Amino acid sequence: MIETIDQVAADIKSRLQDGAKRRKSALHTPVVGTADGHLRVMVLREFDPETHTLRFHTDARSPKCAAISQDPAVSVLAYDAEAKVQIRMRGVGRVESHGPVAEAAWLASTTFARRCYLAESAPSSLAGQPVSGLPDWAEGITPTEDDVAPARDNFAVLLVKVEKFDWLYLANTGHRRAQITPQSGGYSGEWLVP
Ligand SMILES: Cc1cc2nc3c(=O)[nH]c(=O)nc-3n(C[C@H](O)[C@H](O)[C@H](O)COP(=O)(O)O)c2cc1C
Repeated sequence: MIETIDQVAADIKSRLQDGAKRRKSALHTPVVGTADGHLRVMVLREFDPETHTLRFHTDARSPKCAAISQDPAVSVLAYDAEAKVQIRMRGVGRVESHGPVAEAAWLASTTFARRCYLAESAPSSLAGQPVSGLPDWAEGITPTEDDVAPARDNFAVLLVKVEKFDWLYLANTGHRRAQITPQSGGYSGEWLVP
C-alpha cells in the first residue's frame, strides 16, 4: 500500500518508464489533449524523470502540432485498469523537428515506423476515398533506409514537460489521491480527497 508522497512519486516514475518500454503496458498509449479541445491516443516513447518530460513521436504537419504552436498547454491521461491507477498530467508541449532529441528518436526508429511519415499529404487532409496516405510503392512493404529517408522531413518529437501529476488509486478500502508538482531538483506533493 502506498502511504507516502515519495512512494507516489516513485510509482508515477516506474509506471511511466514501464509504459514507455513495454508495448503491453496500459500506460503505453495514453490520451494526449491539446488546448484546442482535441484528444488523441499516442504511443509514449520515453519518460525522463530528471526533467519530468514525456516524449511522443508525430508528424510535424499534423493538426496537434499546429495546436501546440498556438498554445503549448498539453494534458496527458493514462489509466492502468489492472493496477487501478490513473495518472493525469498537465504541462507544456513543444514540437521539435530538428536537434539532438528528434535526430536520436529518428535513428532509433525502425524503417517500418519511419514509413508512416512518408504520407504525401498532411494527416487530416481530406482524401475522398479510403487511403493510407502512403505512396503506392510503400504500401505493404518493409522499406529500406533509403526508401524512408524523405520521411525525415515530416517526423517530429513532441516533448511534454509535466508541471503537475495527479495520481489516483482506486481501492475498496478507500481510494487515495495525491498531486505531485515537479520543482528544480525534486518535487513537492500533497494528498487530496479522491
Ligand atoms: C494505439 C494508437 C497509437 C497511436 N500512436 C500515435 C503516435 O504515437 N503519434 C501520433 O501522432 N499519432 C498516433 N496515433 C494516431 C492519433 O491518435 C491521431 O489519430 C493522429 O495522430 C491525428 O491526430 P491529430 O489530428 O490530432 O493531429 C495513434 C492512434 C492509436 C489508436
